[in-house]
Amino acid sequence: MLLLNTMKTTLIKDLLVSQPDGRAVTVCGWVRTMRDSKNLVFIQVNDGSCFANIQLTFDRNNPGNANPQEIENELKRVSTGASVKAEGVIIPSPASGQAVEVTLQNLVVLGESPSDYPLQKKGHSVEFLREIAHLRPRTNMIAAVARMRSQLAFAVHTFFQERGFQYFNAPLITCSDCEGAGEMFQVTTLDLKRIAEEGVKAGAKGMDPAKAENLVNYSKDFFGKPANLTVSGQLEAETYATALSRVYTFGPTFRAENSNTPRHLAEFWMIEPEMAFFELEDDMDIAEEFVKYLLNWALTNCKEDMAFFDQRIQKGLIETLTHVVNSDFVRISYTDAIKELEKNNDKFEFKAFWGCDLQTEHERYLTEQTFKKPVMVYDYPKEIKAFYMKLNPDGKTVRAVDVLVPGIGELIGGSEREADYDKLVSRIKELGMNPEDYWWYLDLRKYGSVPHSGFGLGFERLIRYVTGMGNLRDVIPFPRAPKLADF
Ligand code: 4AD
Ligand code: MG
Repeated sequence: MLLLNTMKTTLIKDLLVSQPDGRAVTVCGWVRTMRDSKNLVFIQVNDGSCFANIQLTFDRNNPGNANPQEIENELKRVSTGASVKAEGVIIPSPASGQAVEVTLQNLVVLGESPSDYPLQKKGHSVEFLREIAHLRPRTNMIAAVARMRSQLAFAVHTFFQERGFQYFNAPLITCSDCEGAGEMFQVTTLDLKRIAEEGVKAGAKGMDPAKAENLVNYSKDFFGKPANLTVSGQLEAETYATALSRVYTFGPTFRAENSNTPRHLAEFWMIEPEMAFFELEDDMDIAEEFVKYLLNWALTNCKEDMAFFDQRIQKGLIETLTHVVNSDFVRISYTDAIKELEKNNDKFEFKAFWGCDLQTEHERYLTEQTFKKPVMVYDYPKEIKAFYMKLNPDGKTVRAVDVLVPGIGELIGGSEREADYDKLVSRIKELGMNPEDYWWYLDLRKYGSVPHSGFGLGFERLIRYVTGMGNLRDVIPFPRAPKLADF
């Protein structure tokens, strides 16, 4: 027989939508507030399973009270933040804004919460909450964000699984630099202090400082050569896409960019689909479908949390996202985008010109002012994009696409990949990289090469977009950024 009911407690989200039929229930959670007015006691309890609290009520005048003295004793230990286990009966609530409440028949305080509990009052600043990152999920805001992350992770898997993609796990430690930007965290077991000491001694012996690099012997390092945390799982995903046709990664990536901005994290989660037999137009189609699917998922399946974000975090958010779901994304070439930006150069700190890398101010202008909806910019100059992108016949631009959205700027970066062996080798050489380091990647172009494309969506940028939160540091549980790895 299948045991469906393996959980001993009922989640508040299930209680709140169940029949208030007077049956006995058990509620577990953390006390948000307690109000004791003479004969009536109200306790609001939250267990994070949904936005709303459940109200526990205790009426001292009720002659039917089961354990009045035990309850009184426990009530003395109840305060904001305390954890409780309550038993009672579920009844219709006379109070407005809640359908049901629980009449207390038994109460156990599992853990008291002394008066120095930092979340006594509502309305703390996000900066303060970051300092108590271990407790902030007990706030309405961070709990709602956490549920949204979980929901959208499920949506990501569902989207791809429905479309015949295989989930692929890229390695986190790698010896190649996918984006070629050199923003990597080194992974080493070499003892830096000992190497430095040897350097000092060698200097004292009059050794040539120019030979200092010889002191670092990578053959003695764990992998026998320099290794780093991955900045992207794309190159490895290409190997499986050119075997399984459609794959996607969903995992952590690491970038040591020294950018202290609300848009960057040093550790972030990226979703990277990679599709064989897809050209750039197909890539753009699925990227657009994907973004709309995720927004629609949030609007449909996370209504209560979305209502909170709409009212308290970004006014009009639901309307904005609904509009995005129902409209076509703009598709514009980099060259045309630059023409548009040049007309407005007086508004930019950094003047736009053909060949420049688009700055955040440019990206946001295009999506927020010019078009007022998501914009896909494609065919960028090869100089400002990574080595693996397919060269256009003009020899100057590559089949890249960035998806820009209002409030965020770049949400997605992708491209069609160079599938021609010789062109890829010459591009690698042009950039001063060594083709031997990419022998396995080049093999994909040697044996049964196919047109293929993919993109990367930063999961935290997506969550920020959907929730209206102002900073990526508040949409990931424990943010990593320059000088920030405290928890
Ligand atoms: O544009 P990027 O660098 O593209 C790649 O890594 C490709 N290999 C993806 C692919 O084609 N498979 O990064 C992709 C996305 C960006 O659009 C952005 O959303 C996010 O990753 N991203 C970051 N998110 C948070 N913090 C950072 N430091 C980020 N850098 C990139
Ligand atoms: Mg990019």
